Amino acid sequence: MTTRHFLTLLDFSSEELRRVIERATYIKTLRLRGELFQPLRGKTLGMIFDKSSTRTRVSFEVGMLQLGGGAIFLSPRDTQLGRGEPVEDTARVVSRMVDGLMIRTFEQRTLEVFASHSQVPVINGLTDMYHPCQLLADVLTYEEHRGSIQGRQVTWVGDGNNMCHSYINAAIRFDFRLNIACPAGYDPDPDVLARGADRVTLLRDPVAAAAGADLVVTDVWASMGQEEEQRERAAAFRGFQVNAEVMAAAKPDALFMHCLPAHRGEEVTAEVLEGPQSVVWEEAENRLHAQNGLLEFLLA
Ligand code: CP
Ligand code: NVA
Repeated sequence: MTTRHFLTLLDFSSEELRRVIERATYIKTLRLRGELFQPLRGKTLGMIFDKSSTRTRVSFEVGMLQLGGGAIFLSPRDTQLGRGEPVEDTARVVSRMVDGLMIRTFEQRTLEVFASHSQVPVINGLTDMYHPCQLLADVLTYEEHRGSIQGRQVTWVGDGNNMCHSYINAAIRFDFRLNIACPAGYDPDPDVLARGADRVTLLRDPVAAAAGADLVVTDVWASMGQEEEQRERAAAFRGFQVNAEVMAAAKPDALFMHCLPAHRGEEVTAEVLEGPQSVVWEEAENRLHAQNGLLEFLLA
């Protein structure tokens, strides 16, 4: 049997993603009832982080403990990866000892090379191209509040980045419509965009893009690895802030999401982030529950 990986949402069928969300909901319910559920007893997840993380690290580490297993945090600073041992070799060695691997890195290609040399499932914990685990949490959060996301109108405001790409993939797999408002020069990858062409619309005006939206989402203007572009991006993205005017264009019961960390006063106002339509704290918590569904699917 070939090893299953979760490198993008498209690695799973719509039915499989649905199953992950259903199991996440079930495992969350057990947790809230205080019932132990440990399908991963004796199993270990290796976690490689080439970039910083709060939510991803804590949620995977806690999730493995909750499910009866354990997790190991590996950073290039204190592994041989940081001293030039090839990812191919690292993948072959580590995957002989652990039951699953989660990697946060820069290039999607690195992740793909890693996965192709791994004996165990590899999970994308964020690359420059995609952040699929966040989308599991976002869909779970939306559906807890408003029911099925299928057929809904979602609006993405800001950079055509890893999160935006994963929203395009989610629109395909979960069958919703997506408006993207981003400044010229910061469009999503053309191939990713083309894949979603039948349900994704690219616009230049956030207010027009938010018209009739059920969900409004944004993310930072400069992602990890783009720190030196911060100043020019701040200028380019002026006018692409989620504020009261953008939220007013959406449906009155629209939700607001942000994968966090957020920069108040840049991509979102403090008023919206802390406002009644924002579900960002539950969204962050749902990283844990959604990934428990994923970990069960891949490792149990
Ligand atoms: N949203 C998210 O992935 O957060 P971290 O960078 O803190 O893991
Ligand atoms: N686009 C952001 C997401 C952080 C969770 C980044 O890549 O830095």
